[in-house]
Amino acid sequence: MQTRSGSVGSLEEGKEKESVVTTRATQFKAPPLRVLQLFVLYLAICIGFSIISIYTIQHFGIYSVITTVKSNFVTCDGEPDYSLDRWRKPPSNLLHSMSDKELFWRASFAPRIKKYPFKRVPKVAFMFLTKGPLPLSPLWERFFKGHEGLYSVYIHSLPSFKAEFPPSSAFYGRHIPSKVSEWGKMSMCDAERRLLANALLDISNEWFILLSESCIPLHNFSVIYHYIKKSKYSFIDSFDDPGPVGRGRYNESMAPEVTLTQWRKGSQWFEINRRLAINIVEDIKYYPKFERFCRPECYVDEHYFPTMLTIQASNLLANRSITWADWSRGGAHPATFGSADITEEFFIRIYEGNECRYNNQPSSICFLFARKFAPNALEPLLEIAPKVFGF
Ligand SMILES: *[C@@H]1O[C@H](CO)[C@@H](O)[C@H](O)[C@H]1NC(C)=O
Ligand SMILES: *[C@@H]1O[C@H](CO)[C@@H](O)[C@H](O)[C@H]1NC(C)=O
Ligand SMILES: *[C@@H]1O[C@H](CO)[C@@H](O)[C@H](O)[C@H]1NC(C)=O
Repeated sequence: MQTRSGSVGSLEEGKEKESVVTTRATQFKAPPLRVLQLFVLYLAICIGFSIISIYTIQHFGIYSVITTVKSNFVTCDGEPDYSLDRWRKPPSNLLHSMSDKELFWRASFAPRIKKYPFKRVPKVAFMFLTKGPLPLSPLWERFFKGHEGLYSVYIHSLPSFKAEFPPSSAFYGRHIPSKVSEWGKMSMCDAERRLLANALLDISNEWFILLSESCIPLHNFSVIYHYIKKSKYSFIDSFDDPGPVGRGRYNESMAPEVTLTQWRKGSQWFEINRRLAINIVEDIKYYPKFERFCRPECYVDEHYFPTMLTIQASNLLANRSITWADWSRGGAHPATFGSADITEEFFIRIYEGNECRYNNQPSSICFLFARKFAPNALEPLLEIAPKVFGF
């Protein structure tokens, strides 16, 4: 209350000075005084702000004065602090102090006018979900090189992990505030939502790809960028499995939000567009149902997003993943490949051994990424990359 009356007082003081100046100026009627008049007015405004500042220092301490003057007022040189840059530019530091609740709220902001009033080059957000190190990062560095401005990188790792990337690296300073997450549990979906929310803070990110530390790109950047950009659909694996590890995991208590016929399954490694990313981040309807009624043996990261997005936007989904994995050996996890497996023939089998639909047409390029590759696969991968992957 005191501050408010204080600032009103000082503004009125400014006005008094203004009127004094005006009277004097009319008396003399000389043109150069017009300049002096403006100068005195300018001075009066500055003095006004100084008084507000001093007043605020007395009541709130120095810190709040600096923020108040900086963010709420026009500075003395006449530059307003709020510009479009605030919305257009990505945050300069990914390590914000927002809680998940605050972050998701902030990330759910979406413009209602679809045409951007500035040149917006759509970017791909590569989101790495990992426990700690990224052993295949040299391969990714080479993949990203020369495509700055078309991608952004985000890393979610165990909070205790300390990364050491040089400033020249595409991974430098790209860790987001993280929490412990466990496979098959809701904390895994929380981590994925956290990655999406942080990536949404950059208005230029249009497509969002979830990757792990054992993933590799199968094509060069241009091929991958255009494949995603030209696609009518988002690539999220989503299918109706009638068996015990599909429909068998459905719990009737999820109705009416989720019915048995709506229940879907799919690998968690998705590529989705901005609209679907917001759907996931803003969700409060399905989250509590999955959180409560899909617990191991129901692995929530295989069901939550495919089911939810099928209900909300089935017309936007390709229902298939663009990340290749080998499940032929059976078991709960796909095969991991090491240095001995890395041959040209191995990748030709992936390139030529699959058929799929792309924009409703048969396509031979079905996969853009592959998993899982062991750290010792790095050297042979770097060696064959120019010939096989085209980078
Ligand atoms: C559904 O979930 C509830 C709560 O976890 C559990 O008590 C119940 O047994 C489940 N029902 C089925 C059919 O799995
Ligand atoms: C994906 O599946 C949904 C139903 O689950 C269907 O409506 C949609 O057309 C499918 N997408 C494509 C590209 O076939
Ligand atoms: C990327 O790969 C494609 C297909 O292999 C090739 O035509 C293109 O020249 C490559 N682009 C670059 C920048 O190397």
